[in-house]
Amino acid sequence: MNSTLEQLKARFDQAFTAAFGDGMTGTDPMLVPASNPKFGDYQSNAAMSLAKKLGKPPRAIAEQLVKHLNVSDLCAPPEVAGPGFINLTIKPAYLESQLMAVGADQRLGVPLAKTPQREVVDFSSPNIAKEMHVGHLRSTIIGDCIARILEFKGHDVLRLNHVGDWGTQFGMLIAYLREVHPEALTTANALDLGDLVSFYKQAKKRFDEDEAFQETARKEVVKLQAGAEDTRRAWQLLCEQSRREFQVIYDILNVGLTERGESFYNPLLPAVLEDLEKTGLLVENQGAKCVFLEGFTNKEGQPLPLIVQKSDGGYNYATTDLAALRYRIQQDGAKRIVYVTDAGQSTHFAQFFQVAKRAGWIPEGVQVVHVPFGLVLGENGTKLKTRSGETVRLRDLLDEAVGRARADLEARLQEEGREESEEFIAEVAKVVGISAVKYADLSQNRNSNYIFSYDKMLALQGNTAPYMLYAYVRIRGISRQGNIDFDRLGSDAKILLGEETELVLAKHLLQLSEVIAQVEDDLLPNRLCQYLFELSQKFNKFYEECRVLQSDEPQRTSRLALCDLTARTLKLGLSLLGIQVLDRM
Ligand code: ARG
Repeated sequence: MNSTLEQLKARFDQAFTAAFGDGMTGTDPMLVPASNPKFGDYQSNAAMSLAKKLGKPPRAIAEQLVKHLNVSDLCAPPEVAGPGFINLTIKPAYLESQLMAVGADQRLGVPLAKTPQREVVDFSSPNIAKEMHVGHLRSTIIGDCIARILEFKGHDVLRLNHVGDWGTQFGMLIAYLREVHPEALTTANALDLGDLVSFYKQAKKRFDEDEAFQETARKEVVKLQAGAEDTRRAWQLLCEQSRREFQVIYDILNVGLTERGESFYNPLLPAVLEDLEKTGLLVENQGAKCVFLEGFTNKEGQPLPLIVQKSDGGYNYATTDLAALRYRIQQDGAKRIVYVTDAGQSTHFAQFFQVAKRAGWIPEGVQVVHVPFGLVLGENGTKLKTRSGETVRLRDLLDEAVGRARADLEARLQEEGREESEEFIAEVAKVVGISAVKYADLSQNRNSNYIFSYDKMLALQGNTAPYMLYAYVRIRGISRQGNIDFDRLGSDAKILLGEETELVLAKHLLQLSEVIAQVEDDLLPNRLCQYLFELSQKFNKFYEECRVLQSDEPQRTSRLALCDLTARTLKLGLSLLGIQVLDRM
């Protein structure tokens, strides 16, 4: 089925041709949702932008267009307003038939992509032997949501975890562990991530202070790169330890990823240099191999090159990213590569994208996109820290969210005099706590910083996960109370819209596919959150003002169908955010 917007666009196209000739076929009708419901539902701004081209006043253009605009089955007669806006109000009868079609569709009217393609989403990507921090949490939550939406649209999505598992730091860490804790390099599970992180810090300190140690560490790097068995094994063990810890977080969050760390691309690095050499872009600068780029300067205004090989022959983060980009395009067949990291890495991405473009490695039809996000701040407005000033461990953060959700729930149960099983309490606390963390992150425009507040994200009122989950629970309650099996309502349940709150809810329900299409394009999950928030609000309004179970037929069935559609839309929308619904809470 076609969305209302698509149908209107097609009608405008016919009108352009009929009113102004074949040359005008395909003109953008510039249709947007009306800014004020007073003016209807949609508004076309095309007449204003065509004035020059057609040599006529916009109002005259709008009037001529309306004369040829055949939308009587969809809208009340279009109105021309102001300088030449065309205002459209959708007819209830049309809304009713659309809603019934959406209700009969498993996908709730969201079409599959016309040309499904391979999409790589590079997200999460923590570093071995380092703690996964809140930046990685944001990347994990946002990346997972983007991947879910693209998957739902039918794209072939590769969810890649570009784990930082390679580099000179391993030489240092291995050399240090050989001295102080050799078992960790030969025995599986001898350390947990906490130990590993503190060893890493000690190793770094030692490295900075002790020249002889630096030499030993370098030798380990050489051994690692040459594939020496004991060093390799040690490296593998370290990776496994970290990996296990990361997996705990992914399991809690229910996020799936394919690990393909930096080390994977290691054998491909020399070819990156050779090929760059051939393009003539490589310049030697103080022993390092660099590419000079347009538009990048340092603080002193000097050109800021991208270094692809250091003077000691080592490669770096950018070299690996160039190799990964080539691999993803050539081997994985990626048509779009989406990188989800904090905004602090924007320069890195802009630089290596530019190098890849100039080297001709990004063919026509392939898109590379950096999806940046802001910082997570504590309630005092500075970087999130524990009370004692340390970085927050993700495990602790998630546990705390679940713990608080549980305390809230237990207080509520007591207040309501409800008795629930331990199983119920644990499940609800987990879903609410984790959803709250995810939703708090996704509901902000990702480009901005946001303040992490357990109280806010767990509140039952406001733009929060619990508010949305509660709206869903409410609808499930209606079905329990009236002993109604929504599935058996049948797709032929007739929808009849009379009350204003019903119309408002109906129009909102029909916007789902437009919102999803937008997120697919601009990768801003907060749009979907806002949509679901407004849906919950509009549903609550409707439910306050319209009787459902106590109304008479045929209204009763129609209203039940509206409830059911709202619940299904919430469930689908939340699932695309990585949030699971509850039947009761
Ligand atoms: N490991 C990096 C970090 O922790 C993120 C990697 C992002 N992906 C990439 N292809 N550069 O900051």
